[in-house]
Amino acid sequence: MRFDSVNQTDHLGSVSIYNVRRAIELDSGSVITNLDKDEAGVQRVSREAIAEVEQKMAIVLSIKNEDLKVFEGVLGGIPHDCLMIVISNSSVEGVDIFKSERDIISRFCNTTKRRALIVHQKDEALAQAFLSAGYPDIIGDDNLIRDGKSEGMMIGIILAALMGKDYIGFIDTDNYLPGAVLEYVRHYATGFSLAKSPYAMVRILWHYKPKFTGEFYFKKWGRVSETSNRFLNALLSTKGQFETEIIKTANAGEHAMSLELAMRLTYGSGYAVETQELISIMEKFGGILPASDEQVTEKGVEIVQTETINPHLHAEKGDEHLLQEMLMPSLSVIYHSPLCEDSTRESIKEQLVGTGCLDEGEPVPQVRLISPPQNVNLPVFAETIEGEMARYSVPEKAVLNIAGVRKKKAKVAKKVVITDLDGTLLQSLTYSYTAALDAVRNLQGQEIPIVFCSAKTKQEQQVYREELGIEAPFIIENGGAIYIQKDYFRLPFSYDKASEDFLVIEFGMPYSELRHRLSLAMDAACRQIEENPKLGGISISSFGDMSKEDIAKETGLSLKMASFAKQREYSETLKIGGGQKAVEAVCQEIGNVGLLCIPGVKFYEVTGGNDKGKAVKVLLEIFKLNYGDITSYGIGDGADDLSLLASVDHPMLVQGADKRWQRLNVRNLKRVKGISTEGWSKAIEIAIGGI
Ligand code: GDD
Repeated sequence: MRFDSVNQTDHLGSVSIYNVRRAIELDSGSVITNLDKDEAGVQRVSREAIAEVEQKMAIVLSIKNEDLKVFEGVLGGIPHDCLMIVISNSSVEGVDIFKSERDIISRFCNTTKRRALIVHQKDEALAQAFLSAGYPDIIGDDNLIRDGKSEGMMIGIILAALMGKDYIGFIDTDNYLPGAVLEYVRHYATGFSLAKSPYAMVRILWHYKPKFTGEFYFKKWGRVSETSNRFLNALLSTKGQFETEIIKTANAGEHAMSLELAMRLTYGSGYAVETQELISIMEKFGGILPASDEQVTEKGVEIVQTETINPHLHAEKGDEHLLQEMLMPSLSVIYHSPLCEDSTRESIKEQLVGTGCLDEGEPVPQVRLISPPQNVNLPVFAETIEGEMARYSVPEKAVLNIAGVRKKKAKVAKKVVITDLDGTLLQSLTYSYTAALDAVRNLQGQEIPIVFCSAKTKQEQQVYREELGIEAPFIIENGGAIYIQKDYFRLPFSYDKASEDFLVIEFGMPYSELRHRLSLAMDAACRQIEENPKLGGISISSFGDMSKEDIAKETGLSLKMASFAKQREYSETLKIGGGQKAVEAVCQEIGNVGLLCIPGVKFYEVTGGNDKGKAVKVLLEIFKLNYGDITSYGIGDGADDLSLLASVDHPMLVQGADKRWQRLNVRNLKRVKGISTEGWSKAIEIAIGGI
């Protein structure tokens, strides 16, 4: 796919809105690199990059009594790798149109060897699952899900989350051109491939929207969109010094979002939905109202607008539908936003009166808002709906199974144990965990995650995780990064890089930068010591420079483990020998280059300032997002566990080799009898029994 490049970007707080980018070529051939920037200001995204996104994308097809031939055509336009989720609100009384829809998609999936989901919006079990999951937002007085396109979209978002998808795209089912449908999905995939933030949205602008009036007339803008764009731009213009016309897709029915973003937005009922999505993004992340989500503010939200090559040809549903069901709600959500100034409110009112939507003096009715789908308790939803999946899946024999997803999540992490390794789960001298094996198995039997949080590297921790069969995320190199197995959490979270089977959230300074600064500090320390002989001699060696044999000798580690200890990503281990004054001088120089030098029992750990506590807090937030309320237990043995212990509900300290507890000032700290492994087992008894 080839797009022209962005020629303008408007920013509002952490939201970037890109001007419309035109599709130039629908297929740009086989390319080796994922992304090529052409010199002519054109950007190309390879087939492979598009395919990668499509595999992670669910396409939600909303349908209400559409022409069945047209529906069949739409199915043919959805790329094979996308999961189709049909949300129908079609008639079941009299002629059962829903049954015909199900037959059509079943046949389609049988022939094309695909799997899909189809649900009816009025399905009782579905409504019950939302209610059980604490989300009455889309439920009507009859205890069924209300009518409306956006209510259907909410069902789609939750089903996509349950199926573990990363992206969700919406396609109307009244589209006469399957080729256009294919193009929309390709735009979504291209947009996500180009976006830098995990919180991204792609909105489609049709090149032309033809009307049949004796002969084809290719009209560029829909009437409703034109008006909604104008008022959204007016609202945006009042927030800066420059007038803007950046928004051209206020009512884009064809649009897609990363699931991370979709779960966080507040939606508008019915056809207010697309305008309200933009309003919600501006309200939550635009920097004008208080920010609600630091994670998103940090990474930013990207709104990508693209223009198609294909025209948009769909069923027209009349003027009354356009004005009352679409224009009014769309303008209403702009009008009632706390971001809207009085002047824009006045113009909206005039517009609504002028088009006959409102009488003079009549207030602008408010649209019902739907709270973010992340308020749905997914494990409960999954548990309630699991038995119905056979009814929702097509082909019937290939039941799309959420059981795996559910079970994974329903390791219902009421409790999480976060533990240091050396001197805690592992004995200080032998690095043995044998005495803690029963306790480990006990935790595993109760599906309580065991999170390692230690100075050890990824490779070192992997050895113990694999030996013990531990799948939980782990925190390496004193909080340098959190490693999370790709399929571990159901809900999406933001991360810095993907590495092998892991998603990695980074906090530490990259090792190369750290080593560079460390060498500057060492030079300065040597000069200081040379100039001041009273400080005495000093010897410094780092794991990075030492051979694995030397490390093994110093630490008592096996050669294999010593080589793993050398593979550092965010920290360095130093052995510093010399008088106290000389050591202090070294630590001071390390501090002068912006690094932190933490003394341990034998070695000094040098980091870029990360600590265990920060990483623990972020990880616990992700656990909470996925499991709701959790109770966290932390186990450590020394001063370098202080921030870990201060970040959990129940901090516990085991005895050191000298049978003493380190003096740590942590609230509610429980001192457990027993040296390292032995104390660890006791701490686990306490955690399982409940404090
Ligand atoms: N599940 C479900 N439930 N689907 C519905 C419902 C409902 O209550 N009501 C409508 N749909 C389906 C329709 O069958 C169609 O596939 C799609 O939602 C869009 O509805 P239309 O009624 O055809 O909308 P439109 O074509 O006038 O407007 C479209 O384009 C606008 C931008 O011009 C929609 O996508 C609007 O949301 C969009 O703003």
